[in-house]
Amino acid sequence: MNDNTYVRTEIQDLIATVTIDRQAKLNALNPQVIAEIDAAFDGLGGDPAVRVVILTGAGDKAFVAGADIGVLATMGPRTGVAVSREGQEVLRRIERFPKPVVAAVGGYALGGGCELAIACHLRVASERARFGLPEVGLGIIPGYGGTVRLARLVGLGRAVEMVLTGDMVTAERAAEIGLANLVVPHEDLMERTRKLAGRIARNAPVALEMALKSMYEAVESNMEHALELESTLFGLLASTDDMQEGMAAFLEKRRAAFKGE
Ligand code: COA
Repeated sequence: MNDNTYVRTEIQDLIATVTIDRQAKLNALNPQVIAEIDAAFDGLGGDPAVRVVILTGAGDKAFVAGADIGVLATMGPRTGVAVSREGQEVLRRIERFPKPVVAAVGGYALGGGCELAIACHLRVASERARFGLPEVGLGIIPGYGGTVRLARLVGLGRAVEMVLTGDMVTAERAAEIGLANLVVPHEDLMERTRKLAGRIARNAPVALEMALKSMYEAVESNMEHALELESTLFGLLASTDDMQEGMAAFLEKRRAAFKGE
């Protein structure tokens, strides 16, 4: 179990909860926090006790209020590229993580925090969540994939609006445009996120991994390649014990007991 200065991980009922806890700075991402998020994901991919990961921010105010502006303020052109690449790499790892990653957003998800939430596969927002990419107000642009991923999620027009205005959107608006999957009362955020994660965790683990792989590769490739990959993964799943179990359980009118094999 990973237990660092700013990021802690708890595992219960097949769900790992990774919590970013740097509340004095609204969980802003400095290099150490980013490294600890990366470290937290080490091992979760291969741990059979984990089928879904929840990523959240500690405290009532913020998911993550962005990259640490104190650090960004000192960067030059070369370190700027490195800062962006380092953040991008960790978020890319989350996006291509073999298990579903659900962001539980209970407050500000700004800049790098919004990008982090977008790199997760699903987003549950509390009514207090606020999403925004305010970078242009600081003289920069989103650098952890925000100019790339947001448009895929909400459409180019809405993404351009959010990036150029830097305005925050409410949880309700985020749900309207597909940025949040679900909006829940603030006090129910973790319980409702765990419920959603639990529904996912009941399903066949290898099928979940292949479903993510097929969908995310499809977004990044052409139709023919994507359909061919889907068929290959579909066929591959026929080699799993879990497929036998899932279908037998249906026919025998019982709940499937998947092993992830
Ligand atoms: N980087 C570094 N520090 C940050 C931060 C960030 N992205 N976001 C918040 N903080 C710090 C504040 O500087 C403050 O620290 P201090 O108490 O040592 O002065 C602390 O977190 C609390 O924030 P504060 O601004 O006092 O809270 P607030 O409720 O008045 O405002 C926000 C909340 C989120 C609106 C405001 O903090 C903000 O605009 N943050 C920056 C958001 C941003 O531009 N992110 C993108 C960065 S690329």
